[in-house]
Amino acid sequence: MAPRLILGKEVSEEIYSELRERIASLKEKGVTPGLAVILVGDDPASQVYVRKKGEMCESLGMRSLTVRMPAETTQEELLAKVRQLNEDPTIHGFLVQLPLPSHLDERSVIESISPAKDVDCFHPENVGRMLIGEPSFLPATPAGVQQMLVRSGIETKGKHVVVVGRSNIVGKPMAALMIQKGVGANSTVTVVHSATENLPSITRQADILVVAMGRPRFVTADRGKEGAVVIDVGTNRIEDPTHPKGSRLVGDVDFDAVSQKVSAITPVPGGVGPMTICMLMANAVRAAEIATEGER
Ligand code: GUN
Repeated sequence: MAPRLILGKEVSEEIYSELRERIASLKEKGVTPGLAVILVGDDPASQVYVRKKGEMCESLGMRSLTVRMPAETTQEELLAKVRQLNEDPTIHGFLVQLPLPSHLDERSVIESISPAKDVDCFHPENVGRMLIGEPSFLPATPAGVQQMLVRSGIETKGKHVVVVGRSNIVGKPMAALMIQKGVGANSTVTVVHSATENLPSITRQADILVVAMGRPRFVTADRGKEGAVVIDVGTNRIEDPTHPKGSRLVGDVDFDAVSQKVSAITPVPGGVGPMTICMLMANAVRAAEIATEGER
């Protein structure tokens, strides 16, 4: 039987309609949520992401500010811009788009962002708050995956979630979210990565397999369990001469083969992709609510 497709576009639309109501009620109080993005240099993929973030802000009626800085920007100039946004009352949340040019120190830039405005949830204070279950913000991609599971009615309580990949942006925070008590979590979590022995024997035990390894078609049919739910976070551009652009996007999962045996799966593109910006917008609205009403 064909598996159910979990589509980020559908899930994100539901969340956007809730966000529009929250934005309207902030506006009734005279507050327009403001999100800024700092982009250093001209990395083509980053340009696309940053443009999409700005467009989404505007379509939701939020204030959007994109700060473009040249590739030669110094650490001091970037830190000065971060400090300026930390103090700007019209900007409730902001992020520095990664990766930064190699002469800049990402860690110290992230740590200079005010935790109250860190809508990426990359600051160590926010990572720690998430881990102990007292979050202000949630990391966008893992929170997006969690919303896809919850809003698709997929039970996570007591289920074995295997996370493939241990990045700071996806793998580690994904595991941290799924072990929390509460809705859409309460799972038994295993993290596997490039140094894991017998990886297929572990991924085959997953009720829910979340794959964020950054390797095209890493998960083949023999690495998944019959009836599992598979969430593919990978976005890899591979050469394809039959495609008009000469290349196309594939995930970390061999979709055609794996979809034959699982109960639900996310395609690439069209799966997790739209959720990241959606959850970023949710964090920005939350930042504006906290600034306006205090922590609830
Ligand atoms: N680069 C790729 N993904 C992200 C993200 O979620 N936030 C930031 N700041 N940079 C990124």
